Amino acid sequence: MELRGVTALVTGAAHRVGKAIALGLAASGSNVVLHFHRSGEAAEATAAEIRAHGVKVVLVSGDLGDDPAAVMGAVGDLAPVRVLVNSAAVFGNDRLTEVSRTEWETTLAIDLTAPVFLTQAFARALPDGLDGAVINVTDWRTERPYRDHFSYTVAKGGLDTFTRAAAESLAPRIRVNAVALGAILPPPGRGSAYLKELAQEIPVQRVGGTEPVVQAVLALIGNDFITGEILRVDGGAHLR
Ligand SMILES: NC(=O)c1ccc[n+]([C@@H]2O[C@H](COP(=O)([O-])OP(=O)(O)OC[C@H]3O[C@@H](n4cnc5c(N)ncnc54)[C@H](OP(=O)(O)O)[C@@H]3O)[C@@H](O)[C@H]2O)c1
Repeated sequence: MELRGVTALVTGAAHRVGKAIALGLAASGSNVVLHFHRSGEAAEATAAEIRAHGVKVVLVSGDLGDDPAAVMGAVGDLAPVRVLVNSAAVFGNDRLTEVSRTEWETTLAIDLTAPVFLTQAFARALPDGLDGAVINVTDWRTERPYRDHFSYTVAKGGLDTFTRAAAESLAPRIRVNAVALGAILPPPGRGSAYLKELAQEIPVQRVGGTEPVVQAVLALIGNDFITGEILRVDGGAHLR
């Protein structure tokens, strides 16, 4: 798919990984629907950076735990949306032995149910005769689950399966792929000591930063013969 002039919707795009993907799409000539939830100020700042690429941006706020499809209904003049990136997520720290039903359901709602119903809304809204691409942002850890982050890991595992099921369901018009991230950015509040420690566990001996994620997302969107693929961007972490 040629990205110039196409509209892309990125969830959780105010900061960090979602922001980098939104800026990468803007640098490739896409107009951007920038979804955010609580980070209004950061979203405004990111929107200004997107506009500096000479493309259009629309800000859409919303709790993906409520009505994910509503985001698609708020894209206004930037319709039709041809690219959807499901990046927003919660990274709860729970264990099977202790997780409450509420924690479990909240994580599943944002990390799995929202991408499913946003993708459904995206597919329904895509006009006949146009093709589309969906990218789900998942985690290589679904292959080797943590003891911690139980609900998150199970939800992302569901997102992996959803990626393949949706690729089959929505073919040939819409391709659905995923990037399975490793250590890209430290959790908010964790500094360089944490990064150094993390890097030792990764074959390439460093934390990724967002650029490799952007490159992988753009490659998957750009290649019209790839669908149902889950591309690891993890510095080889899955090898150990
Ligand atoms: N960072 C990493 O190294 C890493 C590693 C593996 C996988 N990943 C995956 O990469 C993606 C982005 O990671 P990140 O570290 O950039 O995430 P993050 O900093 O935790 O940001 C999560 C985003 O999700 C949005 N969000 C959270 N709850 C929401 C809700 N109820 N409704 C709508 N939006 C909600 C937040 O929006 P607001 O801030 O506007 O509220 C925020 O933009 C996630 O899918 C994550 O699982 C990241």
